This record gives sequence, C-alpha cells and structure tokens, in this order.
Amino acid sequence: MAFLIGIDIGTSGTKTVLFDLEGNTVASALREYPLYQPQQGWAEQEPEDWWRAVCATLLEVTGKVGVCAQEIKGIGLSGQMHGLVMLGAQGEVLRRSIIWCDQRTAQECVEITEKTGARRLIEITANPALTGFTASKILWVRNHEPQVYEQCRHILLPKDYIRYRLTGEFATEVSDASGMQLLDIRRRDWSDELLQTLGIDKSLLAPVHESIEITACVSREAASLTGLREGTPVAGGAGDQAAGAVGNGIVREGVLSSTIGTSGVVFAHTDSPCIDPQGRIHTFCHAVPGAWHIMGVTQAAGLSLKWFRDNFCSNEKETAALLGIDPYVLLDKEAGLVPAGASGIFYLPYLMGERTPHLDPDARGVFFGLSAIHTRRDMLRAVMEGVAYSLRDCMEVIRQTGVTAGEVRASGGGGRSALWRQMQADMFGCPVCTVNSSEGGALGVALLAGVGAGVWADVRQACDAVIRTGAAQEPDAGAAGIYSARYETYRALYGALKDLF
Ligand code: XUL
Repeated sequence: MAFLIGIDIGTSGTKTVLFDLEGNTVASALREYPLYQPQQGWAEQEPEDWWRAVCATLLEVTGKVGVCAQEIKGIGLSGQMHGLVMLGAQGEVLRRSIIWCDQRTAQECVEITEKTGARRLIEITANPALTGFTASKILWVRNHEPQVYEQCRHILLPKDYIRYRLTGEFATEVSDASGMQLLDIRRRDWSDELLQTLGIDKSLLAPVHESIEITACVSREAASLTGLREGTPVAGGAGDQAAGAVGNGIVREGVLSSTIGTSGVVFAHTDSPCIDPQGRIHTFCHAVPGAWHIMGVTQAAGLSLKWFRDNFCSNEKETAALLGIDPYVLLDKEAGLVPAGASGIFYLPYLMGERTPHLDPDARGVFFGLSAIHTRRDMLRAVMEGVAYSLRDCMEVIRQTGVTAGEVRASGGGGRSALWRQMQADMFGCPVCTVNSSEGGALGVALLAGVGAGVWADVRQACDAVIRTGAAQEPDAGAAGIYSARYETYRALYGALKDLF
C-alpha cells in the first residue's frame, strides 16, 4: 500500500494525519501546546513546542497502524500563517515566535505604509499593511529588540521551521510566503524593491517554491525521532487556509469555501490575481501552481460561540459531559428553537477586532436590541446569526471583485452544524454543502505531497480523485428575506459604533 502524511501546525495544537491514496484517514494524532500572551494583544508560541508535537504525532500515527515507513510516499506541511520564527547562525531559535493574531505592530504598519507608499504596497503585495502579517513583526523586532535582530540569520514561517527540523533545509512556498507581505504576488517571488525599501536583507529569507514541489527529504536525525524513513520527500505544502481549500476541492473558479474555526474565512480560487483596492480581503498565491486566491476573514467566528458556551452555558456543558456528547450539539438544538431573526437581537462578533470588511483592531463585540422578553436562547441564536452576517460581509466584498459563487463548501468545526450551514445558504443565496473528508488542511497538503511525489499529475486531478461533496442545503426563501432585511441593520450598527470603539 501507499500512504501520504499531512501535518497541520495549528494554534491550539498540531494534527498529523496518515491518509491512503483514496483520501481516507488511516490514523491521526493531536498534541496541544500553550499560547503565551505576555501583554494585552500580544500572542507568542514556542517553536520547540511545535517540533515536540510534530515528533510525538508522527511517532503515534506511524506506530498505530504498523505502516511500513517505505510506504509513506510523501509528507505535506500546513500551518498557522504569518508567524515570525527567527534563527541564529547555528539554526537556534532566538526568541518565541510572534504569531498571526498578535496585534502589537500598529506603528510598524504605519512605517511600512509610509516607506513604501500605500498604493505601491498593494500593487506589490496585493494587501495593505496589517498587524497580523509577518513584515510588521520583523520590523517590530528590529525596532524593539535590536540585539535579537542583529543575531538573526534566518526568518521562517511556523511550518517552514518544522521543515527545517525535518530536513535541515531552509525553504518556503508561495501561499504561506504571500502572508509575510514581502512577496511580489504576481511574480510569486520575494520583492527586491520592497526588501530594499524596508532594509531587510534577502539572505534572511528562504527560497520560495510552488506548493507541490518537493523541497527536501527527511534527514537521518529526524527519521530517528519520528519513525519516518530517511529520504521521505517533503513537499512545499501551504498556509492553513490554502491547504484547507485544497482539502475541500477549492481549485477552480466558482466553487468557494466557508470555514468556521476559531476565525471564519470565505475563500475563492482565482485564475489571476484579483485585488480589492480597499484591501478589505486578502489576495494571496494559491497552492495550485499559476493560481491565486482571495479570502475574507472574520476574526472571532467559532471563537464567538466558544466564548458564549464557556461563559453562559455551564448547564449544557455538564449535560453534554454526562451524555458523552459535544456541548455544541446541544447549543445547536437550542438555537434551532428560535426562528430566523433571533427575536430581534443582533450580535456583532468583533471580540478580537475585525479584519473583513472593517480592518479595525479596535472594534469590539456587541449585543444590540435586548429587551426584558429575551432569553439566553435568543442571544445564542443571535451569536450564530452575527457570525453568519460577518461571513456574508466577506462574501459581499468577494462578489464585488467580480467572483461568482455557484456553490459554497462549509468546513471547520462550525461547518458541522446543519443550522449554521442553512444560515449561510440563506444569507449567501446559494447552496452550501460539505465534503466527504473533514481533515481540511492536513488532507490538502497530503494531496499536494502526492502531486509532488508523482501520485497525481496535478492538484485538480488529486482533488477530483479524492474529494466528494455531500447533499447541498438550498436557500430558504422565507428565512433569506428576513436575514436580508436585517443585514442592513447589522451593517449600520458598525458604522454607528465605529468612533465609540
Ligand atoms: C490567515 C490567518 C489564519 C492563521 C491561523 O490569514 O491569519 O488562518 O493562519 O489559523
């Protein structure tokens, strides 16, 4: 038999999955690690924690099913995007990684925009300077920890640090490199102009590959720590969003995905770079060679429901523990008892500021329209609807760029909820379905590795061979009308509150 492995270095943990060539999960393992928040708005992780989790999960999946290491044809790496890993001359980690959701770099974003010019920055990188992206994090270290910057010889993204530990090679690939904001998005390579303007030495950055390319092979040392065979090919892989999109078959125009994880993302494949001049959505290189993608991001999607569950739903948590089920199943049932419109309550999901469409790190969550008649159940429904309205915000901007949505594939933890999928179908005005595998990013990069290892000719062929869609949920005209009228008020609320935030 032949197998492929996908490793997803997420924010809460690393998931490693062994797939057969039909895309079935043969074994999977997960290890969690801490997130450090030394100050309000800061977010850091320890690269050594990621590596330990990768070794442990690889040992677990290779050991679990007794697969012979020779049968593993390739490994794909996916991971949280935008994180900054700085290494010294000996490959040693110089400081904790400043990760994607860290918001400390507002001043550095001003610096980047002033030095480059707002228009030129969008022309080159397709995006305005954002606190989440890596370039501003690099400048922050240079401005605040010059002694660290001076010792730095290599700058890597989280999954590319794992590649370095697995293979000894410094390499990155186009989809994740796009989120560093140093890449010329059209040429799919580092921008010499931008690096020069910002005074960043190009030798600090790793060579850029396409996502399907085999960048190097597992070293002897890594083989002894992971149960892999020395020489197993490691493909470029992809940032978690592009990887998840491949795992959902988003490799052609017209088919979009919407993912509700901690954050929420509406993602579209494009055959040429498609840029929103206002920068409300991100435009990055796709993991499909010669293609790009756009995505709108809601900062606190699943996070909003988790926050509500943890603070207001202890009964459901206890009942679910007794029944041995997921508390979200009970929350879903309860929210389903409230009709569309949440009895007049609105929820703005800006617990972590917002990216699309507001690009406002200062925005905050809101319940609006409460009266004495309302119950916690109405508020729960409002939370789910508020997240879906914010995904509609993403969809609206994507449509304004000329992209059409014929079908949306729902994924992530929130994609498991039939109620949340129906809300999206009603708000987007198009069918929403799921796909046969829920492994998303890990499957996506396993497929990329399969293409690199010669199992399939290209990414589309790999997706066509493995990914099947389930029954679609169609928009319901009645609910769609209610949501559409309420969406106007939802939109007006941010405008009214912007200055108060
Ligand atoms: C994408 C983004 C997140 C992170 C963490 O722009 O910030 O998807 O990669 O998941």
